[in-house]
Amino acid sequence: MTTTRRLVTHSALGALGTIACAAAGLLTPGFAAAQADALKIGLILPMTGPFASTGRQIEAAARLWMAQNGAKVAGKTVELIVKDDAGVADTTRRLAQELVVNDKVVALAGFGLTPLALAAAPVATQGKTPLVVMAAATSSITEASPYIIRTSFTLPQAAIGIAEWAAKNKIKKAVTMVTDYGPGIDAEKFFVDRFLLNGGTVPEKLRTPLRSPDFAPVLQKVRDAQPDAVFVFLPSGQGAAFMKQFAERGLDKAGIKLIGTGDVVDDDILADMGDVALGVVTSHHYSAAHKSPANQKYVAAFQAANPKMRPNFMSVGGYDGMRVIYKALEATKGASGEALLAAMKGQIFESPRGQVLIDAQTRDIVQDIYIRRVEKVNGALYNVEFDAMKGVKDPGKNR
Ligand code: PHB
Repeated sequence: MTTTRRLVTHSALGALGTIACAAAGLLTPGFAAAQADALKIGLILPMTGPFASTGRQIEAAARLWMAQNGAKVAGKTVELIVKDDAGVADTTRRLAQELVVNDKVVALAGFGLTPLALAAAPVATQGKTPLVVMAAATSSITEASPYIIRTSFTLPQAAIGIAEWAAKNKIKKAVTMVTDYGPGIDAEKFFVDRFLLNGGTVPEKLRTPLRSPDFAPVLQKVRDAQPDAVFVFLPSGQGAAFMKQFAERGLDKAGIKLIGTGDVVDDDILADMGDVALGVVTSHHYSAAHKSPANQKYVAAFQAANPKMRPNFMSVGGYDGMRVIYKALEATKGASGEALLAAMKGQIFESPRGQVLIDAQTRDIVQDIYIRRVEKVNGALYNVEFDAMKGVKDPGKNR
């Protein structure tokens, strides 16, 4: 837009610019009015770099929500502005600032990793702009700004389910292996505490770096410890490389069971993991194989719009996040700031993952956590749910 306007005032290109703008409808009064009236949502995601799968999934889900629900709310046009932060926190902060100050978005959304959500939190507070975390999952994120609402999950929420399951299923000794930053530290703490409480032992707690991890040395340590199981948390996107090395080093054959939160057997990459993934048990809030009519509809629509993709848990955070924003805009007739934030709190609805609540006190999501096992369904690998903990609040909030 800015470039096009500059062309119009430039004498040599004036005529050309005017024609181009008129053709695109950019200078018509109708367009200007629509612009002023638009309800803008700023979606900041890692669309490039090692975490691009998160960006791809969430953008696809957000666009699906809009295709299904229309681009008009309370008589105004909803405009989705997608920005790529490439997973770099300084970029996230700058983009958030630009979206609030220049674009005057009514909500910020997205946030593929914990450090990215934390970088944008002060911008939400200063701009009194609701910020919907659709992916990042460290428990404490919602405490970084009173304007944060979360539609993803928390690692404490996901990790206790598998700790309970392991203790009841002949796993006495477990080693943990997590990525060394917020969500990994949360996963480790909540898995270990619950597992010890249930009588298990944890001889080793291993951590890998977030950027370019080499799993070989830690897998050797896992092997040496000879546990019944290794509990793993890795951020979405890293599971495939890990599973490959797990198999290459023969840990599956050595009788060490792989358990974890569902991030390691993410639906985005599960289909290509091969038989090494078979039998992996994890706990998580979403599986593409979740058996509900709402989910079957969601998966079918997602795949019709994105034929080469299977929706994963990140996509559901994006889809539900758009729902929360839309319903709050509808309820407030297009308000922003405090009023919009208030209308996001306390929403209860059926997500593709099951029934959820946005807790008005914590602004975090309350949801069912499923225990799942990787199995072949019609020849393809899926996380098949076989047990559930109902209405789980983030256990990380009462520390
Ligand atoms: C996070 O950085 O908070 C994060 C990223 C990917 C996940 C889970 C948590 O799969």
